[in-house]
Amino acid sequence: MATRDKWGSKIGFILAASGSAVGLGNIWRFPYTAGKNGGALFLLFYLISILMIGLPVLIAETSLGRFSGKNPVGAFKSIRPKGQWKLVGYFGVITGVMILSFYSMIAGWTLGYFYKAITGKFKTMTSANAEQIFTNFAGNTAMQIFLLACFLGLTIFVVSRGVSAGIEKYARVLMPGLFILLLLLLFRSLSLEGASKGLEFYLKPDFSKLTPGIIIDAMGQAFFSLSLGMGAMITYGSYLKNDENLVSATAWVAFFDTFIAILAGFIIFPAIFSQGMSPDQGPALVFNILPVIFANMPGGIVFGSLFFLLLCIAALTSTVSLLEVATAYGIDEKKWSRKKAALIVGALSLLFGIPSVLSYADIPFFQKLPLVNMSFFGLMDLLWSNLALSIGALFLAIFVGYVWKTSNALKEIAKGTGKFKFAKFWSISVKFLGPLLIIAVLASYFFK
Ligand code: TRP
Repeated sequence: MATRDKWGSKIGFILAASGSAVGLGNIWRFPYTAGKNGGALFLLFYLISILMIGLPVLIAETSLGRFSGKNPVGAFKSIRPKGQWKLVGYFGVITGVMILSFYSMIAGWTLGYFYKAITGKFKTMTSANAEQIFTNFAGNTAMQIFLLACFLGLTIFVVSRGVSAGIEKYARVLMPGLFILLLLLLFRSLSLEGASKGLEFYLKPDFSKLTPGIIIDAMGQAFFSLSLGMGAMITYGSYLKNDENLVSATAWVAFFDTFIAILAGFIIFPAIFSQGMSPDQGPALVFNILPVIFANMPGGIVFGSLFFLLLCIAALTSTVSLLEVATAYGIDEKKWSRKKAALIVGALSLLFGIPSVLSYADIPFFQKLPLVNMSFFGLMDLLWSNLALSIGALFLAIFVGYVWKTSNALKEIAKGTGKFKFAKFWSISVKFLGPLLIIAVLASYFFK
């Protein structure tokens, strides 16, 4: 058997895993979800979720991956060859394909906005016409399917080339560039007139508005943003070498990811309030506000184009991890070639992505599905991002805590880490705190 592809270095893992973590989740999903959920209140529960459950589960997932050296299905099987635990792995593979389908649609939007930016279309965008421009853009079904297919094609291309040759190389150079542009936008946004109202919305929680929905959205966002709960980190962990410090590597990933999301909030909310726009307008939020900021900024065409280009690339390093999970499954368990696996899975995501695209066309059925009263895309995001990832993380924590056992996981973690200072808290979180919190949040959501 050929030896399994490995990351070139710990930095390689950190970059690739933060490439997976940092993406549209931070810059597109975090702001609009926070905007919908009262801003500061959401931010607070988001941070709690990251620290109390997110990081511990991230460590658990990555160590299971490195220990087994497998895709999610293989990882559960390698510890429990009999029994049904492998179903959690299958569930993760399916979740990945489904998230990939609608995530690629949003990535297609960024591709389209990159094109708008570079052709100078932002110049005429104002807070008055931005929403209409977006509606026309997203409602152009043929173009949206084309953009979706382009983006999936790019993802398939990178994944076909393999782990360290493909993913790692791209992540290494481009992530720092995005960060610099975000800093620039931060200064721009904070200096806008009326920015302080946005800061207040973002930083001053109003506890009287607390609902179970806010907490589940915050927890779901934490899992989504860290790429947890469907085996992406099992798969990336499987490429991590034994002598690397798993704890510090994953802590860096969580830090970068959280930092960038918080930064995005500091850019979006001051700008939204200074333009008199509403923070709870949903998925179009950043596409409505960012062009307006660029339009009023010296060098806006250059910065705007660069920004959307880098955002596309950040999305690409994330879609790559989504596709990689099911691809690794196809390679390990079905013995497909890497290329064939990536193509088959990518094609499936394209198919499932189309109804999400139709949610933005003028078709009442997809805009408001009967019974659930939300768009097809909204339903997909709720089911797969919030619910499936929370349930996946719950089962993962239970598996590592009670089946594989935290003592064994800690042995795996100790390779290359040495002394793990928070071993006690970690065990408690994986065995009790994490599962209980997830169950409590899911229950309060369903039985409200
Ligand atoms: N974390 C990515 C983002 O925030 C999205 C993502 C990539 C993801 N891989 C994942 C989400 C696996 C859940 C599971 O943009």
